[in-house]
Amino acid sequence: MNSSDLRKKFLDFFKARGHAIVPSSSLIPDDPSVLFTTAGMQQFKRYFTGELDPMKDFGSKNVVSIQKCFRTSDIDEVGDESHLTFFEMLGNFSFGGYWKKEAIVYAHEFIAKELGLSIDYVSIFEGDKDVPADEESEKIWKSLGIKDIRKFRREDNFWGPTGAEGPCGPTSEVYVRGLEVWNLVFNEYYCDKNKKLTPLKTKGIDTGMGLERLAMMVQNTPTIFETDLFDFLIKQMPRDLPTTTKRIIADHVRGIAFLISDGVRPSNREAGYVLRRLMRRVISYSYQKNIGISPETLLSSVVEKFKDISNYKNLDSQLMESTFKNEYGKFIRTVGSGLKELEKLKSVDAKTAFKLYESYGLPYEVIKEFEGGI
Ligand code: SER
Repeated sequence: MNSSDLRKKFLDFFKARGHAIVPSSSLIPDDPSVLFTTAGMQQFKRYFTGELDPMKDFGSKNVVSIQKCFRTSDIDEVGDESHLTFFEMLGNFSFGGYWKKEAIVYAHEFIAKELGLSIDYVSIFEGDKDVPADEESEKIWKSLGIKDIRKFRREDNFWGPTGAEGPCGPTSEVYVRGLEVWNLVFNEYYCDKNKKLTPLKTKGIDTGMGLERLAMMVQNTPTIFETDLFDFLIKQMPRDLPTTTKRIIADHVRGIAFLISDGVRPSNREAGYVLRRLMRRVISYSYQKNIGISPETLLSSVVEKFKDISNYKNLDSQLMESTFKNEYGKFIRTVGSGLKELEKLKSVDAKTAFKLYESYGLPYEVIKEFEGGI
């Protein structure tokens, strides 16, 4: 089952159960306390708090979406088996429509029956001095025949808020092949700026499942990078290029494509800086190594792969190419000779790093990445 089938299956499943399909919001949220959209629930924050009425806007208290997400927290881990910057999050949400029972039954039905995957174990919140143990979820999972139910602490099984304040609550996670695939959040508190929890008037459901991980399970691949969401990029690079490099490039070109399409431009500030970092990393690799293909071609492949999905109609090849070329030119003009020098070295100590900076203006972050093992 490819990723398009999976997206459709997910949306159809929840549509058939009374959920309205809501398109992804932009990667740049309207909440000034966060740089990027990191979760599906972000565009729905004000429905959870009761400020907005889901019946008026969606004709239902229950919605389903596939949300573009971008997380910088994992940026240094990209290149391993499962971390990403950009990813797609499948999620069903309820703003007072249903609660734990339905959320858990839906998750179980979708994973075990629709996709035929076997659930290794699930986790629930063990409780602490502020929030009681989640016995209700434990009972529901048990009634579905799940035997391995692990209890986790606040650090692991409590979600939110995104940004400075917002809805949050205990979670229950579903594990397949040892990896967490689905996070069910039971939003029942509002966390204010001082971290104080107050019960929400209406309880809500917020679930999130990474499409890439789910594809890995369904397509039975060793990592996410062999799924159809990445292999169309990986396959275009030379076989002997180090695996980590290929993964980083594949992750970053997807991120670059979606950030540019949502209006981000490389700069030295905030989201623009993050985009610049991704671009410069890809540029450094393609300038120093034989990556066998131009980054622009990889960016066009991303557009080809995603443009027909109704969520992502704003992917624009031409805009992407011109933005990338512009940054490429700027970066190489200023640090190109430094990059060539760097490539000749086996390792870089502090003195050499300083010299590279002094003579060629090579930024420390580029040198650090080289040191990190290209
Ligand atoms: N907001 C939760 C998460 O990102 C569930 O969607 O995991």
